[in-house]
Amino acid sequence: MQSFEQLLKQFEEYFSKRHFPNEPASLYDAAQHILSIGGKRVRPVAVLMGNELFDEIKPDAWQVATAIELFHNFSLIHDDIMDEAPLRRGKQTVHAIHGVNTAILAGDVTLTMSYDYLGKVEGDLKSILALFNKTALEVSEGQQMDMDFEKRETVHLDEYVRMIELKTSVLLAASLKLGAMIGGASVGNTEHVYEFGRNLGIAFQVQDDYLDCFGDPAKFGKQVGGDIKANKKTFLMIHALETASAAQQQQLKELMQTNPADKVEQVLAIFKSAGVDEWAMQLKNQYLEKAMQHLEDIAVLSKRKEPLQQLAQFLVQRQY
Ligand code: IPE
Ligand code: IPE
Ligand code: MG
Ligand code: MG
Ligand code: MG
Repeated sequence: MQSFEQLLKQFEEYFSKRHFPNEPASLYDAAQHILSIGGKRVRPVAVLMGNELFDEIKPDAWQVATAIELFHNFSLIHDDIMDEAPLRRGKQTVHAIHGVNTAILAGDVTLTMSYDYLGKVEGDLKSILALFNKTALEVSEGQQMDMDFEKRETVHLDEYVRMIELKTSVLLAASLKLGAMIGGASVGNTEHVYEFGRNLGIAFQVQDDYLDCFGDPAKFGKQVGGDIKANKKTFLMIHALETASAAQQQQLKELMQTNPADKVEQVLAIFKSAGVDEWAMQLKNQYLEKAMQHLEDIAVLSKRKEPLQQLAQFLVQRQY
């Protein structure tokens, strides 16, 4: 069994090459750039770990891991356009450097290359493609819900959880499950693997939403306060809209409509006084516990599960 760091190192070696043709450079260099500036590589390593939980890593796992990381990067390029985000991985976003139109195409070609790697799978491509495509549709559904919620005054907690499940957690869940399928896991085991990833992915996005408000700009690599600027209905906002004083709730609603220059500072002050950061940590831990229960239920020797335990801790404690 290999640790996250060991698998990450191998994946980086495998992945660190040019994935695109040379010309037109104005398109392909833009797409290649974001792949080359880092990223935690959580999802492709999850594919490898899902495989290794059951058997030695098979060649197909490398193809699928690469496809998953490309898909993830495609979704980030388009997400940054939709979120009007200036920074990603500590650098300017693709659309900020190259303009929105090139960024749309950079996302498109990254998605296309993702399918190119899937096409190299020698095993049960039909099953792999079915899960991959189901997941890809769900990510877009979640992204649309995320934007629809920006325009709504209030969103319920269960709607928020469903939205982050779709936009974020199903990709982590699918990464693990695809690896498990390649590793020859039984149907029962692949379901527990998926549920582990789904719950962990929800905890991961709660941490993401927390960091968007309270992250250290030097470590986070993205603009702090971006979700507040865009009126995102994160758990922190939802909870503040439910539990802050009546005056503060009114103030939040006004801030979302008037967008003053110091909106982020004002909203953060309300979040802090309402204690929503503490609540977010509790919500995160609830989903982490659910994830760990499913990990326990996977029928393999517990020693084999250690890298996934390590992955779970890393994901919910991450500062970037
Ligand atoms: C960012 O994912 C998008 C979300 C689902 C929150 P990561 O935090 O995994 O981004 P990178 O790949 O490490 O940059
Ligand atoms: C994005 O969620 C999820 C996807 C890219 C599908 P966020 O908008 O919170 O991700 P970041 O914070 O920009 O990485
Ligand atoms: Mg975003
Ligand atoms: Mg977004
Ligand atoms: Mg975010």
